[in-house]
Amino acid sequence: MNILVVGGGGREHALVMKINESEKADKIFCVPGNGGISRYAECISDIKATDIDGVVETAKKVNADLVVVAPDDPLVLGMVDELNKQGFATFGPNKDAAIIEGSKVFSKNLMKKYNIPTAEYETFSSAIDAVNYLKERNEYPIVIKADGLALGKGVIIAQDFKEAEDAVKSIMEDKIFGASGSKIVIEEFLTGPEVSVLCFTDGTTIKPMISSMDHKRALDGDQGLNTGGMGTIAPNPYYTDAIAKECMTTIFKPTIDAMNNENRTFKGCLYFGLMLTPKGPKVIEYNCRFGDPETQVVLPLLDTDIVDIMMAIYNDKLDSINIRWKNETAACVVMASGGYPKKYETGKLIEGLDERGQVSGAFVYHAGTKFEDKSFYTAGGRVLNVTATGKNLKEALSQSYNCVKKIKFENSHCRTDIGARALAAEED
Ligand code: AMP
Ligand code: GLY
Repeated sequence: MNILVVGGGGREHALVMKINESEKADKIFCVPGNGGISRYAECISDIKATDIDGVVETAKKVNADLVVVAPDDPLVLGMVDELNKQGFATFGPNKDAAIIEGSKVFSKNLMKKYNIPTAEYETFSSAIDAVNYLKERNEYPIVIKADGLALGKGVIIAQDFKEAEDAVKSIMEDKIFGASGSKIVIEEFLTGPEVSVLCFTDGTTIKPMISSMDHKRALDGDQGLNTGGMGTIAPNPYYTDAIAKECMTTIFKPTIDAMNNENRTFKGCLYFGLMLTPKGPKVIEYNCRFGDPETQVVLPLLDTDIVDIMMAIYNDKLDSINIRWKNETAACVVMASGGYPKKYETGKLIEGLDERGQVSGAFVYHAGTKFEDKSFYTAGGRVLNVTATGKNLKEALSQSYNCVKKIKFENSHCRTDIGARALAAEED
């Protein structure tokens, strides 16, 4: 099969490398891809991941038998609908279903209507009403979210009235997140360990993957700014079998049923961002796609052909597939450009990688690199995602940090405590 992957980060590199393991995959293409991906797939780098016409044309040109749309924005824009119209098999939800991530107002109202546990909330389309509500409620911290996609940055946790009022004004009046801030959600602040659960679903059957844990803050000890994710581990030790069972009956299945009921059948990877609160698991957010960098720890543990799974989902036959997982643990450490998520420099030579952009003992997924004259250069904020597996968390972490040490570029930055809290909890 000819398989086209849309996207160009570490998540897409993990997808491409997993697809590359499949006996079904003859040729892999990627739009736009990146330096590391170019060692495993033919990259069409002059087309953007959001360019629907460009991707459809590419799918025709390369005779794609399957198109995997990985990032949120092309899914929310309806890339899958257009590809299907032109007769291509796809992996990813259509536009009507992708709204589960594209609009927080939609997803919160869905959860309320179908009794799916989530933080209590109100929605607003006027800043004055929102500020009046804050005055009335007067409970802090409080969480303020822009309705639409905001590159994972549309959430502000306000500690007092002043911060909350500023957040409302900057989202709704100054439009710091653009049009995605014309409506907002204000919700109750929840506490507890966070768990990411990615699920394969064809709209009828839902099969959770191995759970994982992201580390969103830039600095050790969960300090510093929010980022796209600085590291992940899988499985998530807080997510016990009993909790998994509860989530299936109170959250996963009800969500799939709710989407069907709304005529928005979801097919692809549905990502549940959960918080294990003292009152039980609650949904923090839905994503309509594989998480990044969760995918970089989940897929290395997958022991079933991913192309078979994707085609089964496309053909509404997920129930016929037995998905197996390796009985191992994975840890991913993100190597970022110094300064990320604020200003950073690019174009730095990366030393220590072999000709495929790898080091021995790890999967090195490239998030932001360029390949030129047989060398790799930094090309983004998050540069490399170094993933290792082991028989337990301790082993996976030490192996991935050992591999990080083999790679050098000027001003590189990584957290030194990925998985540390989980490891301490596990050893307790
Ligand atoms: P999101 O972009 O929705 O994933 O939110 C980003 C992060 O904000 C989450 O990973 C949580 O750490 C935090 N967050 C979001 N909603 C809440 C909430 N209701 N209570 C506490 N923390 C939250
Ligand atoms: N890691 C969080 C996300 O993919 O949105």
